[in-house]
Amino acid sequence: MTAKTLSVFYGTIIHSQSLTELEIIENGLLIVDRTSGVIQRLERNVSNPEDALKDLDASTYELHKMSPHQFLLPGFIDTHAHAPQYVFAGSGMELQLLDWLNANVFPVESSFASTDMARKSYTKVVSRFLRNGTTTCSWFATIHLEACKVLVDIIRELGQRAYVGKVNMDQNSPDFYVEKTQESLDATRAFIEYTLPHGPLVTPVVTPRFAITCSSTLMKGLSALASEYKVPIQTHLCENHNEINFTCSLFPDSKHYTGIYHDHGLFTASENVYMAHCVHMDDDEIALLKENNVGISHCANSNFSLQSGVCDVRRFLESGVKVGLGTDVAGGYAPSMLDAVRSSFFASKVQLMRHRDELNKPDYKVLGTTELVYLATMGGARVLGLQDTIGNFEQGKAFDALFVDLDLANSPVDVMGHENKTQLLEKFIFNGSDQSLAHVFVQGRRVAGAASVPL
Ligand code: GUN
Ligand code: FE
Repeated sequence: MTAKTLSVFYGTIIHSQSLTELEIIENGLLIVDRTSGVIQRLERNVSNPEDALKDLDASTYELHKMSPHQFLLPGFIDTHAHAPQYVFAGSGMELQLLDWLNANVFPVESSFASTDMARKSYTKVVSRFLRNGTTTCSWFATIHLEACKVLVDIIRELGQRAYVGKVNMDQNSPDFYVEKTQESLDATRAFIEYTLPHGPLVTPVVTPRFAITCSSTLMKGLSALASEYKVPIQTHLCENHNEINFTCSLFPDSKHYTGIYHDHGLFTASENVYMAHCVHMDDDEIALLKENNVGISHCANSNFSLQSGVCDVRRFLESGVKVGLGTDVAGGYAPSMLDAVRSSFFASKVQLMRHRDELNKPDYKVLGTTELVYLATMGGARVLGLQDTIGNFEQGKAFDALFVDLDLANSPVDVMGHENKTQLLEKFIFNGSDQSLAHVFVQGRRVAGAASVPL
């Protein structure tokens, strides 16, 4: 018997074509090459799948006909999460950023000097993210080289697509959790060299924590490393008022917080640069992001939880800045992109009320389903520079996908029978959970799923 080399899915296929176009394909046929995990064909309006496949030898493919309450969605892309912080997600949520970092974050992150701690915690967090449908994640780890390598190893074992950052901190940090400038740069180089050969699913990302904890020498050195190895750069920007004031006082030569990163070469050292939060920014700063093709990660749960503020994402979208969503675990307490979508929806509602009631702008538009799905998938892909690889189901892209089944045994969603496909999608987006995800695929490999029988 010939080995099956193709997986074929027949049924409802939903994906974003752009910020304003959500395509719902009702009788879609999607063919995945099992060896490469790449989408070989996507066909629309297929009334008979066997007919559509007649050019193929039937022994070479496995056909999965999806039921009316099942559909495929592109995997979720979390553009900003802190892997070590998962262990205390939900604790200390009454504090604001700088106090929260000192009280909760730095003591726990410093414990990742132990690779045992890293192995135990990172296995949990990566598994949890995959179960929740996060097929790609951009991670912050800690300052510790060995623990960062452990995170890379675990991600590879579990099969997630990921950007992984060794965090850099050489000033304004507690004495138990700080690096010497040159050691920080050397460890970053070692981490990049360790991780690059592990490709193509795992990519190192240069990760200065934020300007407060990075000297000018360190930031310039990190820019040089990103440019030498052609790797992406991620950090935090304009999250909280106290943070912004302190940051600007440390770098008085720069025009504003955004200017500090630009002045240290971080916006031009890499093709792919993205900033988490960007809650409080003036027009000049947004223009600087746009000019340098720098994207943002919108972390709405975190911005509420740490009382940082409510980011007006619409403003960035209208300025043409790339936007994706981030959980920011554990500034955000939820390790789920479904939560990131819902928090973004609420943040957008708050902005709508502010525009309507305070700014006399009643035409402000809330983020709708089409935009929310885009931000959680294609938007994130663009922020990470992966728009040619993932984000939707175009032919030639990797099959990173969620097989949603609203009828699974422990489904949190009730389907009544009257729903059209948009309403089924909305039931999933607003009330679904990991118990709605029968199968989660990364590059064609099933990496998680609540279905009792793997596909
Ligand atoms: N700014 C600097 N470090 C952090 C962090 O760990 N979390 C958040 N939310 N903001 C930061
Ligand atoms: Fe963060």
